[in-house]
Amino acid sequence: MSALLPIPAGTFRSDLPFVPAPEPDPDAADDLLRYLCDRGGLEFDGYHRDSLLRRVRDRMRRAGILSFPDYRTFLEEDADEHGRLCEGIPVPCTEFFRDPDDWAYLAAQVLPGLLAAKADGEPIRMWSAGCATGEEAYTLVVLLAEALGPYRIRDRVTIFATDVSDRCLGRARTGRYPGYRMGGVPADLRDRYFWSDGGDWVVRPDLRACLLFGRHDLLRDPPYSGLDLIACRNTLIYFTLRAQSRELARLGRVLFPGGVLFAGRSEFPHVRSALFEAESLNHRVFRRA
Ligand SMILES: C[S@@+](CC[C@H](N)C(=O)[O-])C[C@H]1O[C@@H](n2cnc3c(N)ncnc32)[C@H](O)[C@@H]1O
Repeated sequence: MSALLPIPAGTFRSDLPFVPAPEPDPDAADDLLRYLCDRGGLEFDGYHRDSLLRRVRDRMRRAGILSFPDYRTFLEEDADEHGRLCEGIPVPCTEFFRDPDDWAYLAAQVLPGLLAAKADGEPIRMWSAGCATGEEAYTLVVLLAEALGPYRIRDRVTIFATDVSDRCLGRARTGRYPGYRMGGVPADLRDRYFWSDGGDWVVRPDLRACLLFGRHDLLRDPPYSGLDLIACRNTLIYFTLRAQSRELARLGRVLFPGGVLFAGRSEFPHVRSALFEAESLNHRVFRRA
């Protein structure tokens, strides 16, 4: 007889009521997804069906609801449930200098040329699309401060930092991170560009002033334009393949020629060669042709 594997601590949560998974019922699931598409809030038809249903089942489990039609009734009756459902569909997992080798490549091989091609004093416009709680956008501004000199960025650099989640944006706008979230930031950069405040680290106001946070739904809203660089990393993963290709093409069109798409592992297989030249597949850096 094979030995039983030890059960990891935390596998069972006693604070949640046990409710069996809902019966697989593709028609009822489709009805519910159609209802969500019609109701709006998120462009549900751009997201993978599996991700949507996983989130729906999670909400059903928490509400103790067993069937999709009952959950639809619940959505109609509880004014806040739709917002709770939408907030949790994209997962806002992020960190400073996520995939550090890619950021090192960007800093050493991409930013110097991009900045050198600009006339003196010419504005620099970048976009962190799907910025979650802001770490990606702050990483970018730290590297620009390193490249340009901290006192030269404020008047030249604008970084649009957008997400579909208001809750994430609220946290991003504060520019304040607890110590345990700062692990990815090299200590010298942390000490230069952040202030320590009661166990938290707060981004310096002159860097913070370069960032414009705003709600933007990639599936619905028109993109920003006239951009030198777009960081769109680990964001399109939730979208259907068709929506991913469409979004990447739209992003390509708003970059200046020679502008850079800094993609994530999930995005790069869908980057079209007609619009972009691959500068580094390893680091997922593409140039607008
Ligand atoms: C995994 S996080 C990636 C964060 C960051 N780009 C990174 O790589 O660390 C994905 C983010 O995409 C956002 N997102 C999902 N769907 C979106 C949409 N339709 N429009 C804009 N942002 C979206 C989510 O809210 C989430 O914050």
